[in-house]
Amino acid sequence: MVLLLLITLSVLTSTYDAIDLYPPYTITAGPTYTAYKFNILQHLTALSPYFETNTNGLSPDPPPGCTVVKAAYLVRHASIYANDYDYEATLYPFLQRLKNASSLENVNFSCASDLAFLTTWTSPITDSKKQVEKLTISGGLEAFHFGTRLAYRYPHLLPTKKTNASVFKVWASKANRTRQSANAFFAGLYGGIQEDTIGQVILIAEGEEQGANTLTPHKSCPRFSDSAGAKEADIWLKYYTGSIIARFAAMGTGFNFSANDVLAMQELCGYETVIRGSSLFCPIFTSDEWLSFEYYFDIKYHYQLGYGADRSPSLGMPWVVASSNLLNEARTTDQDLYISFTHRQKPLLVLTSLGLYNNSCYAGVDDINTTFPLDQINHQRAWRTSELIPVLGHVALERLDCASVTHTGSFVRVLVNSIPKPLPHCASGPAGSCPLPHYMDYVQRRHALYEKFSKTCGVRYKNTTDVLAIYS
Ligand SMILES: *[C@@H]1O[C@H](CO)[C@@H](O)[C@H](O)[C@H]1NC(C)=O
Ligand SMILES: *[C@@H]1O[C@H](CO)[C@@H](O)[C@H](O)[C@H]1NC(C)=O
Ligand SMILES: *[C@@H]1O[C@H](CO)[C@@H](O)[C@H](O)[C@H]1NC(C)=O
Ligand SMILES: *[C@@H]1O[C@H](CO)[C@@H](O)[C@H](O)[C@H]1NC(C)=O
Ligand SMILES: *[C@@H]1O[C@H](CO)[C@@H](O)[C@H](O)[C@H]1NC(C)=O
Ligand SMILES: *[C@@H]1O[C@H](CO)[C@@H](O)[C@H](O)[C@H]1NC(C)=O
Ligand SMILES: *[C@@H]1O[C@H](CO)[C@@H](O)[C@H](O)[C@H]1NC(C)=O
Ligand SMILES: *[C@@H]1O[C@H](CO)[C@@H](O)[C@H](O)[C@H]1NC(C)=O
Repeated sequence: MVLLLLITLSVLTSTYDAIDLYPPYTITAGPTYTAYKFNILQHLTALSPYFETNTNGLSPDPPPGCTVVKAAYLVRHASIYANDYDYEATLYPFLQRLKNASSLENVNFSCASDLAFLTTWTSPITDSKKQVEKLTISGGLEAFHFGTRLAYRYPHLLPTKKTNASVFKVWASKANRTRQSANAFFAGLYGGIQEDTIGQVILIAEGEEQGANTLTPHKSCPRFSDSAGAKEADIWLKYYTGSIIARFAAMGTGFNFSANDVLAMQELCGYETVIRGSSLFCPIFTSDEWLSFEYYFDIKYHYQLGYGADRSPSLGMPWVVASSNLLNEARTTDQDLYISFTHRQKPLLVLTSLGLYNNSCYAGVDDINTTFPLDQINHQRAWRTSELIPVLGHVALERLDCASVTHTGSFVRVLVNSIPKPLPHCASGPAGSCPLPHYMDYVQRRHALYEKFSKTCGVRYKNTTDVLAIYS
C-alpha cells in the first residue's frame, strides 16, 4: 500500500524532488527575473521537510572508478506534530490567544484577505497529549522513502540471505519518533515486502548517565544548556517581527499580534504542512520575513549546538571517531552500512566536530559570535540550519575505494543530506574527497584539539565514558 503510493507520486510529479508529499510554496519575482524561485519550505530550518541543495556542484555519485565500500549515517527522525518546547512555549500561547479572540467583538479577521482564513481555522494539533513529539502520518512514509533511496544508492552494501541478513542492524535512540523512523526506514530499505526478519533495530538509551555512549550526548552532558541561544534569538525576534506586526495591524483585524504570535504562525506553516499537507500560514509572509525567521533559528542553534557553544565539538566527536574507525577498518563481511537515527541536535554537533559550516573561516574573524549580529541578517554566513537539519537531515561518511587511471586507494567524503561537503584542507582526492590516511589524521587532530566528553561536560557519575561503543 505504502509502496503503491510512492510509485503513484513519482509518476504524477514531473519534477521529482527529494520527496513531494507537500506542494512547494514558491515565491517568485517579476517576469524579467524568472530564475528567482523562493521555496518557503526550504527556509524553515528544523521544520523544513527533507530537501537537498547542491551549491558546490559536486556530484553525489561515486567518482568514476570508485566504489563506496562502507558508509556511516547519522539521521534525524521524520516529521513530527510539534516538539514539546515549540508547542508549550510558542504554539500553545498563540492558539489560546486566538481562541480567546474569537469571542471578542472588536476582533474580526474577515476584512483582511491574507488573514481571513483565521475566522474558521482550527489547530492541526487536535490532541496535544497524544500528538506532540509523535510522527505525523507522512513521517513514516518519509522514513520509508529514505530507506528505499539508500537501497538504490548502496545495493551492494545491503545484506542478502547469504550474508546473514538476520544480524544486519540499524541503530536508533530510544524515543518513539526515532525508533519508529528506524522501523519505517528498515521497511523502506527492503520495499516493505520482505516477510522474513531482515535485521534488527538496536535501541540506544537516552539517559542522563550514558556518558558519550549514546546517540543523544546532549542529554547526558550536565553542562549542556537547552536554553542557550534563547536570549540572543529573542533579541532578533523582537527586532524582525516589528515590521510584520505593523503590517498586520494595518489590516485592521483588531487582533494585536505579538512577537510570539508571529513566531508561532511561521512555525505553523511548517508543522501544519507536515500534518495536513499544506498550510495557509505559509503564503502570508514575504521571502524577507522567512529569511528573518530562518535567521532566528540559526542564531539559536549557533549558541546551543553550533560554534557559539564551546562544548559542541566534544559532543559530536564520539560519533565521528567511532564511525571513522569503522570506515578505516579492513573490509569486513558482516556489515558495511551503519545507519543511526537520532534527534536534531546530533547532526549539528557532529558538523562542528568535523569543522564544517564554520562562519569564522569565511569571515576571517576570531570571535565567531560577531558573525551573528542581532540587528541585521548576516547573509554571508555558512551556518544555515535549513540546509543541515531539515526533517530526516543527515550527515554521512562514505569510504570510497578507487582504482582508476587518476586515483588509486581509499578516500573518505562527507555527505550532508546526500550532497558531498569537502573538508577544509582535506579534499585532494577525487571529487573533493580526502585520502583515507589524511582523513584519519584530520579526525585525530580535531579529536586532540577539544576536551573529552566527560571533562567538558563536568560529568559526576562514576561509570562515564568518552567513547561511543554501540557499533562494536
Ligand atoms: C484567555 O482568556 C482567559 C479567560 O478570560 C484568560 O484567563 C487567559 O489568560 C486568556 N489567555 C490568553 C493567552 O490570553
Ligand atoms: C466581520 O467583518 C465582516 C466584513 O466587514 C462582516 O460582514 C462581519 O459581520 C463581521 N463579523 C463580525 C463577527 O463582526
Ligand atoms: C547468522 O548470525 C547468527 C547470529 O550471529 C548466527 O547464530 C547464525 O549462525 C548465522 N547464520 C549464518 C548462515 O551464518
Ligand atoms: C511509545 O510507544 C510505545 C509502544 O508503541 C507505547 O506503549 C508508548 O506509550 C509510547 N510512548 C509515548 C511516550 O508515547
Ligand atoms: C552507568 O550506570 C547507569 C545506572 O546503572 C546506567 O543507566 C548507565 O547506562 C551507565 N552508563 C554507562 C556509560 O555505562
Ligand atoms: C489591542 O490594543 C489596543 C490598543 O492598545 C486596545 O485598545 C485593544 O483592546 C487591543 N485589542 C485586543 C483584542 O486585545
Ligand atoms: C560565544 O558566546 C557564547 C555564549 O555567550 C560563549 O559561551 C562563547 O564562549 C562565545 N564564543 C566566543 C568565541 O567568544
Ligand atoms: C572556526 O573557525 C575559526 C577561524 O578559522 C577557528 O578559530 C575556530 O577554531 C573554528 N572553530 C571550530 C570549532 O572548529
